[in-house]
Order: sequence, then C-alpha cells, then structure tokens
Amino acid sequence: MSSPLLATVSIENADLVAMVDALVTRHGATRGALLPILQDLLAERGEISTLAMQLVADRLGASPAEVQGVVTFYSFLGEAARGRHVIRLCRTLSCMMAGTRDVAAAFEAELGIPFGATTPDGVFTLEWTNCIGMCCAPPALLADAEAFSSVSPAQVGEVIGALRASGVQE
Ligand code: FES
Repeated sequence: MSSPLLATVSIENADLVAMVDALVTRHGATRGALLPILQDLLAERGEISTLAMQLVADRLGASPAEVQGVVTFYSFLGEAARGRHVIRLCRTLSCMMAGTRDVAAAFEAELGIPFGATTPDGVFTLEWTNCIGMCCAPPALLADAEAFSSVSPAQVGEVIGALRASGVQE
C-alpha cells in the first residue's frame, strides 16, 4: 500500500506514478523485479530521479535506501540525466593498456566535451565504465546497446555516425 506522502506526491507527478505502476505490473511487485524496473525507467525517462526511487521502493515494499543502493552500484543506472546516446568506454586494465586514453581523447575532441559530460544539445553523453567482458579485444566500448571492440581513435567518427544513424530522433 502507498504511503500518505507518496499519495500526495502522486497528484503532482501523475505521469511518473503511472509509469512506475505500469512497470511494476509488467515485471511484478517483487524484489527480483527491481533491476528490470529501474532499467526500463531509465530507458523511458533518461534518468532515475529521487522521487522515482521512492516510488519504486514504495511499490516493491523496499526501503528507498535499498533502491538507491542498487542505482548507485550499477553505474548504468546512475541518477544523472544523460543524452539520447550514451557512449561508455571501458577503463579497466586490459583496455587501458591497449589505448583507451587515446580513444577517449578522440571522442572528447570530436564531441567537444570531457568524459562525464553531455553535449549541450543533449544528444551525446560520454561515460567511463568498468569491464564489459570484451577484454580479449580491447579497447572496448558500448555505444547505447551496441558493443564495439578493438576500437582505435580513427574509428571514433564511425561510432558516432552509427549512433546518429540508429533511428533515435535527434
Ligand atoms: S577490460 Fe575492458 S572490456 Fe574487460
């Protein structure tokens, strides 16, 4: 059952409440559904706000601290708003030794922003990530959901072009 506080909040944030309720219906009101609910919430809204975390906690009978802990642990779920396309470059040892810094510099030069930032038009976000399981072909990155391996600085334009052509409206 919802808390009185969240019932009041609901009136002013009806769209968020409706989305959380739809995701809970889709995935189930269990602790095991927490991660898929948060992933879908991020995909739909581009961020997971403090209020969203409180709502999810309320619906699943979890504590807000527990939900925030999951969001914090999984860097992909981080609370910050992101651009429509997110480039996550691996900074773990195998990739760093294979030239990740040069690839990062090429992305920063191409987009005009440092890692951890979003372009002013809200289209691209550059993020670091830890190992994504492609250590056999470093440097590796995720461009939205697509993985790229053995990336060189010369391929940065290709990665950005692939994202621009991916069908997400800019
Ligand atoms: S170290 Fe980069 S993918 Fe594993």
